Amino acid sequence: MIDGKTKILGVMGDPIEHTFSPAMHNAGLKELGMNYIYLPFHVKPERLSFAIDGAKALGIQGFNVTIPHKTNVMKHLNQIDQVASMIGAVNTIQFIYDEDIESSNQDNEINVTTKGFNTDGYGCVRAIEEKTSIKNKKVTITGAGGASRAVAFQIASSGIEELSLLNRNLSKAESLVADLKTNLASIGIDIGINAYGIDDLKRELSDSDIFIDTTPIGMYPNVDDKAIASADMFHEDLLVNDIVYTPMETSLIKEAKLANATVVPGYKMLLYQGIRSFEIWLGREAPVDVMEKALLDVLGI
Ligand code: ATR
Repeated sequence: MIDGKTKILGVMGDPIEHTFSPAMHNAGLKELGMNYIYLPFHVKPERLSFAIDGAKALGIQGFNVTIPHKTNVMKHLNQIDQVASMIGAVNTIQFIYDEDIESSNQDNEINVTTKGFNTDGYGCVRAIEEKTSIKNKKVTITGAGGASRAVAFQIASSGIEELSLLNRNLSKAESLVADLKTNLASIGIDIGINAYGIDDLKRELSDSDIFIDTTPIGMYPNVDDKAIASADMFHEDLLVNDIVYTPMETSLIKEAKLANATVVPGYKMLLYQGIRSFEIWLGREAPVDVMEKALLDVLGI
C-alpha cells in the first residue's frame, strides 16, 4: 500500500509507454515487502537536466535510464562506475542522500550524490552464466552498435580468452575493437580481440564457445527476417544468445535449436540487467524467480 513513507524508483525514457520494467520491479518489491514503488517517467531530451534535478528534490531513490538518455545523462551525474564509463552509457542511477539539512541550506545545494552504472552487459553475462561459465571461452558477437558495446565491454572484462566482433559495416567493428583494446589495456586486460565482416561469421563460429547476436534482425514486427546465421553454421557445443526478446523465439533461436545448440533467449538479459539495478538500489538480493515470472507475464509469454 502506498503511504507517507513510500519511496520512489523509476525508469525514464522517450518514449516510455512500452517499458516492461515496472512490472518486473514492482513484483520484486512486493515480494520483499518493501515500501517502494517503481514508476515510468516520460522525459523529453530537452528536459533531462530538469528531470535529474527534480528527482533529487523529490528524493527519488533510483532510476533506470533508457533511450535516448543513456549517454547524455552521464554529464549530470557525480560518479560513473568503471564499466559504465568504458561503455560510455548509463542505464542505472543511484541517488544517495545526505540528510544533513543544515549544511544543505548553507550552500543552497541539494546534498545528494548521483552514481551511474551500466547493468546491460552484466545482464547478458549473467544470462549466459546460467548455462555455462564464460571463463577462458571464445566469444563471437555480431553487431557494433550501442548494445554490442555494452555487451562487449562487460564480456571482455569477465575472464574470456578471445573475442571476435563482426559487423556488416566493418569499419564500425574495427573502431569498437580499437576502443575496447585501449580501455581494457588501461585496466590491465590483454586478450585477443579482432574485428571482421559478417562474411567471416561461419569461420569464427566454428571454434567459438559462445555466440551473441546484438543486431535487431528478427525483432517484432520483422519476425520473418532471415537470421544472421543458419543451423549449418552452429555446432552442438555452441551457446547461442539473441538479445532480441520480441518475439521470444526469434529466427536465430529457431536455427540454434535445429542445430542442438544451447539457447539463451533475449529476455534473460532484460531480466538480469533489472536484477542488478534492483540490487544496486536496495542493497539486497533480488527475488529472481518472482521478477522473471512478472516479466514473462508482461511480455505475454
Ligand atoms: P543498438 O543500440 O540496439 O545496438 P544500433 O546502434 O542501431 O542499435 O546498432 C545496430 C547494429 O545492428 C549495427 O551494428 C548494425 O550494423 P551496421 O553498423 O552495419 O548498420 C546491425 N544491423 C542492423 N540491421 C542489420 C542487418 N539487417 N544485417 C546486419 N547487421 C545489421
